[in-house]
Amino acid sequence: MSYLAKNYNRKKISFKYGKGSYLYSLNGKKYLDFVQGIAVNSLGHAHPKLVNVINKQAKKLWHVSNAFIIPEGEKLARKLAQKTFADYVMFQNSGTEATEAAIKIARRYFFSIGKPKKNRILCIKNSFHGRTLAAIFASGSKKMTEGFGPKVDGFDHFEFGNHQDLKKSITNNTAAIMVETIMGEGGIKVIPDWCLRELRKICNKKNILLILDEVQCGIGRTGDFFAFDKSRVKPDIVPIAKGIGGGFPIGAVLMNKKVGSCMTSGTHGSTFGGNPLAMSVGNAVFDIISKKKFLKNIKYLSEYFFLNLNNLKEKYPKIIKEIRGKGFLIGIQLHTNQINFINKLMDQKLLTIKAAENVVRILPPLNVKKKELDLALKILNKVCLSYD
Ligand SMILES: Cc1ncc(COP(=O)(O)O)c(C=O)c1O
Repeated sequence: MSYLAKNYNRKKISFKYGKGSYLYSLNGKKYLDFVQGIAVNSLGHAHPKLVNVINKQAKKLWHVSNAFIIPEGEKLARKLAQKTFADYVMFQNSGTEATEAAIKIARRYFFSIGKPKKNRILCIKNSFHGRTLAAIFASGSKKMTEGFGPKVDGFDHFEFGNHQDLKKSITNNTAAIMVETIMGEGGIKVIPDWCLRELRKICNKKNILLILDEVQCGIGRTGDFFAFDKSRVKPDIVPIAKGIGGGFPIGAVLMNKKVGSCMTSGTHGSTFGGNPLAMSVGNAVFDIISKKKFLKNIKYLSEYFFLNLNNLKEKYPKIIKEIRGKGFLIGIQLHTNQINFINKLMDQKLLTIKAAENVVRILPPLNVKKKELDLALKILNKVCLSYD
C-alpha cells in the first residue's frame, strides 16, 4: 500500500539509475527515456559535468537566504540577461511559481504607474501555466479548476488561433497577454512567428505587456535558446523553469527594465529560490546549452528526426494524424488511442508521455545521439506495424 496521495495515476515501474538518454529499471530493464522528466533533464541523466558541479557545491554551501548576496545567482542572472531580452531575473523553484510571479509583475507594473485597474491577464483557453490557484485559473481549463473554487478572478481567455476572439477579449483593463510560445500539455501547438509578431504589435498599440511562457519550450528545447527567438519578438516577461535546472528544481522570471523597475525591495520573495546549490547547477546547464554549436546540433538532429517521423506518418496514415512541434518538443497526434500506443512503446522500451488532443509527446534530452533517435524511430515503426 502506498501512503502517497492519489493525485497521480503512476505507471507500475521504478528506476534504479539513469545515464544519458537511458533509464534502468529496478527489475534490470533498459529504457530509452524520451520523457526526461517532462523536458526537465535537458542534458539527460547524470551528466558528468552536472554531477561534478553539484558534488563540489554540496561540499561548500547549499543554501543561504536571499537576504545575502549569492554570487552564483548573480552570475546566472548576468548570463541570462546578456543572452536574452532581459534586464532583470528573479529566481524561483518551479514553473508555476515563475508564471505566478510573471502575473504579479504585470499587475504591479500597472499599479506602479497609477493604473491599478489594468490588472487582467488574457490567456489561451486550455493552456497550461502550472498548478497554483492563480495558474490553474489562468489556464482556463475546466478539468484543472473543477473543485478548486472560488474562482481566482482576473483572467480572460481566447481560443488558440482565433484572432477575432483574441481582439474581442482585450479590454481597457487588460494588463498582459500570457501565452505559451508552444503549448506543451495542450498538445504541442506552435504559435507561428508571424502570430507572435502580431501579438507584439497588438500589445504595443494597446499598452499591454507580453508574457511568453517558456517553461517547457525554452532553454534550447527548440534549437533556439527561446522558442520565440526566430520571430525577433521581444516579450516583456518570460517565465522559465524545467530545462534550466537539468533536473534540479529551478524556476525564474526574466523581465525587461520597464517592468522590472516596479519590483522594489519586499514586493516578492522566495526562501529557496536562487540558492547556491541550484544556481551552481543552473550555471553549468546554461554554459552547455547556450553554446551556438550545441543549439545548432539540436536543429540538425531534430530536422532529421522530424523528416523520419513525417515518413512514418505517410507510411501509417490510419495511425498517425499529424506530427507537431519544433526541435525536441515533439507531438505525434494519433488516430488511434494514445494511451495504448504509449503502453506499446513502453513494452518496446521507449518512454513517451501524453499531451492533450490525443498526442504522444516525445521529449529527448537535448544532447541525444543520432543512434538513439534511430532506435526510437525503429520502435515507433514496430508499434505502428503492430496495428495492421
Ligand atoms: C508551459 C508551462 N508553464 C508552467 C508549468 C508549470 O511548471 P511546474 O510543474 O514546474 O510548476 C509547466 C509544466 O509543465 C508548463 O509546461
